[in-house]
Amino acid sequence: MNTQEFQKDIQQGIPTVLPAKKSYDLEINHAPKRKDILTKEEKKLALQNALRYFPLEFHAALAPEFLEELNTFGRIYMYRFRPDYKMYARPINEYPGKSEQAKSIMLMIQNNLDYAVAQHPHELITYGGNGAVFQNWIQYRLTMKYLSEMTNEQTLVMYSGHPMGLFPSHPEAPRVVVTNGMVIPNYSKPDDWEKFNALGVSQYGQMTAGSYMYIGPQGIVHGTTITVLNAGRKIAKNGEDLSGKLFLTAGLGGMSGAQPKAASIAGCISVTAEINTKAAQTRHSQGWVDELITDLDALCERVTAAKKNKEIVSIAFIGNIVDVWEKFDQENIYVDLGSDQTSLHNPWAGGYYPVGLSLEESNEMMATNPDLFKKNVQQTLVRHANAVNAHAGKGTYFFDYGNAFLLEASRAGANVMAANGIDFKYPSYVQDIMGPMCFDYGFGPFRWVCASGDSEDLQKTDLIACEVLEQMAKTSPAEIRQQMADNITWIKGAQENKLVVGSQARILYADAEGRMRIAEAFNKAIAAGEIGPVVLGRDHHDVSGTDSPFRETSNIYDGSKFTADMAIQNVIGDSFRGATWVSIHNGGGVGWGEVINGGFGMLLDGTDAADRRLKMMLHWDVNNGISRRSWARNEGAVFAIKRAMKAEPLLRVTVPEQIDAAYIDTLFE
Ligand SMILES: NC(=O)c1ccc[n+]([C@@H]2O[C@H](COP(=O)([O-])OP(=O)(O)OC[C@H]3O[C@@H](n4cnc5c(N)ncnc54)[C@H](O)[C@@H]3O)[C@@H](O)[C@H]2O)c1
Repeated sequence: MNTQEFQKDIQQGIPTVLPAKKSYDLEINHAPKRKDILTKEEKKLALQNALRYFPLEFHAALAPEFLEELNTFGRIYMYRFRPDYKMYARPINEYPGKSEQAKSIMLMIQNNLDYAVAQHPHELITYGGNGAVFQNWIQYRLTMKYLSEMTNEQTLVMYSGHPMGLFPSHPEAPRVVVTNGMVIPNYSKPDDWEKFNALGVSQYGQMTAGSYMYIGPQGIVHGTTITVLNAGRKIAKNGEDLSGKLFLTAGLGGMSGAQPKAASIAGCISVTAEINTKAAQTRHSQGWVDELITDLDALCERVTAAKKNKEIVSIAFIGNIVDVWEKFDQENIYVDLGSDQTSLHNPWAGGYYPVGLSLEESNEMMATNPDLFKKNVQQTLVRHANAVNAHAGKGTYFFDYGNAFLLEASRAGANVMAANGIDFKYPSYVQDIMGPMCFDYGFGPFRWVCASGDSEDLQKTDLIACEVLEQMAKTSPAEIRQQMADNITWIKGAQENKLVVGSQARILYADAEGRMRIAEAFNKAIAAGEIGPVVLGRDHHDVSGTDSPFRETSNIYDGSKFTADMAIQNVIGDSFRGATWVSIHNGGGVGWGEVINGGFGMLLDGTDAADRRLKMMLHWDVNNGISRRSWARNEGAVFAIKRAMKAEPLLRVTVPEQIDAAYIDTLFE
């Protein structure tokens, strides 16, 4: 299909003539069949909800088809309306429309549905098993049509994938406002999602799926690199680096597959156990892991040699992680850093495999005897924790990497609780690393996409960002010097590490000043005609965007970690300070009802208006979270907010006074 036909298809929206029915493509990775959760009456409602997009004369053809989809897959995806053109982020000028901002959003939507990027592209799922961009193909078509028609005097309103419509607004307002999965708090249990989603009235947007800001695996590579590097610093006795040190972990799946690559960038030896041979082979063929080993003795020999020669090498062990922890304990192979990234947010349906069973045996058992499978998982978790404890006793630094390992191990009765019976023995990566070292100072996963689609533009933006950071590093205070240096190293190596999948995108951890200065420099380069337009954004997993008590806000200790004021304030504040689009989601990463997270997108087009917007919005987008972290009395954040107030006289934040905790204790004696 050429560009003209593509544009015509977009502008058509809902086809006036029914397209031919599509066959179910077995070559593509599909979403699993969802739970059959609706009653008969609710199924009728789900059908009516789906049919309201179409004129009555289509209903006789579509109703039985949609019912079949609902019965077969647990959802109505409206496969028939999947477009025939190739799905990918086209250069911005290939999109039809009247608003450049709207075109940039179309580009980002298509990137999230690109077959090379999306996990289940035909079910409109970008990542995480259920991270949806839309609930069905008609919502996609209608949204693209609205975007192709709208002007900068309108705002498109998105309710969980459903385009409610265009409403009059003004050029400084967001072009799109997205909400995903927002429900009345008492109706936020996992089965509520299953039901609302099956009815077609809500969706799980994950973090960057339903907000059109996913940039493939490089986002997680950078975050994991920063985590491993800083974990290394925590164990360094004399400021030495990670050379010759061993990192042991598990999982080579969607996100976890980033671990070996990140470990190599951080400069250590890594062993990542993966029970699924196919997953391990995929990561090996992609160059994300260097070597595959299937035998435990061979693994011990290889690791011993790598330690002796201080090699930087990533090894995948095809097998169960518990066997590796236990074998290394018996053989006295010292593990410097340990973690786990199996999918323990989903322990009973294939996220975590019991020891002693093959992958096939497990898959069979979880379907035919789920109770026995659950028992096996829990027994394995106890063994897993015991082996980790044995290593920790020898000095291993173990951290939870946001996959609910400690939570599920504790539920299984494993010995992972601290002496106070409330906390875990081991920290989460946000409590020990990401929170105090990055988020409290405002460092977070800033990202950008070159809307021209030109790889040369990305190279130029990498150079611009590097120059800005190098300039800033000359006068950085000691507290953030290390972060600045890490990010300069990252951006210098970014091209060589070949991280782009899908759109021409880059991630770079930066603080408020860094984000503003890099964005300002991009805008100037666009104005000078050196590069095309650039879309700015970030992961929701950031300083201010996410309230998530066991992850992003786990290092908030004033009792406010179960509140979500920060994320809500953030999205409201971004929306009137110049974001091109904003989003706020229930769920993401840790599960429905467990987190509220928000984000933004902003088109830089080289204009003075973009310059004004980027400064105002990025300043708020980071300092909101720093002020909350500071109010919770996090030391780094108190430092960062005081520094921000010095730089910007209009910023006046309530700063906490010192507390004499020992005196308070005396009142309770
Ligand atoms: N910290 C973060 O920033 C962050 C980011 C994304 C995801 N996560 C969490 O990390 C987890 C993994 O995410 P993912 O997308 O990679 O999931 P995934 O399901 O694609 O991958 C997990 C892998 O672990 C393997 N596995 C399971 N049990 C095993 C065992 N006992 N031994 C060896 N291998 C085993 C599976 O075969 C699978 O390939 C999730 O719980 C997710 O929520 C954390």
